[in-house]
Amino acid sequence: MPPASSSYARRDVLRLGAGAAAALVAARAVGGSAAAAAPAPGSLVPLTEGPILKPLPPEWFVPLGTNAEMRWDSVDPRRYLTAPERLFVRNHTRTPIIDARTWELRIHGDGLADPRTPERAHVLTYRDLRRLPARTVTTVLECTGNGRTLFATQQGTPVSGTAWGLGAVGTVRWTGVPLSLVLRRLGIRRDAVDIQATGLDEPFVSGGVDYGRVRRPFPVAKALEDALLVYAMDGRPLLPDHGFPVRLLLPGWVGIASIKWLGELEVSRTTLTSPWNTKWYRMTGPDYPADSPPLTVLPVKSVFEPPTGLASGRRTVLTGRSWSGAGAIRRVEVSTDGGETWQRARTDRARGSGWTQWSHPWRPRSSGEHVLLARATDVTGRTQPDQVPFNDGGYFFSAVVQNRVAVA
Ligand code: MTE
Repeated sequence: MPPASSSYARRDVLRLGAGAAAALVAARAVGGSAAAAAPAPGSLVPLTEGPILKPLPPEWFVPLGTNAEMRWDSVDPRRYLTAPERLFVRNHTRTPIIDARTWELRIHGDGLADPRTPERAHVLTYRDLRRLPARTVTTVLECTGNGRTLFATQQGTPVSGTAWGLGAVGTVRWTGVPLSLVLRRLGIRRDAVDIQATGLDEPFVSGGVDYGRVRRPFPVAKALEDALLVYAMDGRPLLPDHGFPVRLLLPGWVGIASIKWLGELEVSRTTLTSPWNTKWYRMTGPDYPADSPPLTVLPVKSVFEPPTGLASGRRTVLTGRSWSGAGAIRRVEVSTDGGETWQRARTDRARGSGWTQWSHPWRPRSSGEHVLLARATDVTGRTQPDQVPFNDGGYFFSAVVQNRVAVA
């Protein structure tokens, strides 16, 4: 159940008084889009149309229904972090507008030392959360289906689902409170195994089926290891589209694990499920067993920042980024001849568990089409393969990407 007092639905927003409207506008102003859309206090003008609130300039984003993909040709090779304004958005429904002053995180379940029903949940307010010791971490955030269209374009096996290119990824500096700290203060049982995180966005309806609110369980071990209750990106309050006022962050794990607009945590002594770990976000298809586990750790991937001005005989420096959910990138190899020969790229050091930037000088010897490849290996020894097995959901396209470029 969502907290009764949270004004998460648009119709509730319209009923807010002047003070609440001001707070709301403050939250929206972070995205730089508030001025035009802000209503006069008490007015009944709808605040927004569309599933995403932040501006989506076409030079930065490719709109994909309720989602928006970051364009790699808009990425500045000199900038390490992805600014919140430029981060991809993945919404199952649409961005809710939540008043931080009435937001509550309700924590319940039989895995708590003092077991609680949802009705008797522990309640954490935004003020409570902001008073707790915080940590700042830099991590990659990536959608499980990032690169889905490459199953069709590179391997000839189209899949359905949001037609992501490679821009459903970013590296963000997050600030929040370790979930372990909150759980230890509340007290959890030694035999607690799973925690279900539920968002406050509208229930997800697809094909006439109401799947309820976006929610996904994760092991208590991950909660105690590095999960964060995040309230800031780049030192500023979260943008509404990215989970304002508070989202969960499970570093290194698939994007769906980082539930936005967090409203509820159920701590349980038994394994929990939701359609987001049984129906979706696990591997299904001819090469996978019927009981394949829910997807968790992100694979190893690499992307080139699209080179411009390539000309035969002219030296250029190719740049890109590689990442892995399992740890740092150990090496990146680049091929400029379609995979016949490989050279080690020069890599920068990653910040935290963010991506690694790399560069490689290249002087094309002929004009025409060339195929550029980048292949990364992480500290656990995982290397990008030439091909990945097909899966119905189009998840984890981690094969080496064939980048066709024209040289003048
Ligand atoms: N949380 C809620 N409540 N609702 C959502 O639709 N989408 C998930 C995850 N958390 C989602 C959510 C998915 S699939 C991804 S990839 C990330 O949020 C995207 O985060 P972003 O939109 O901040 O980039």
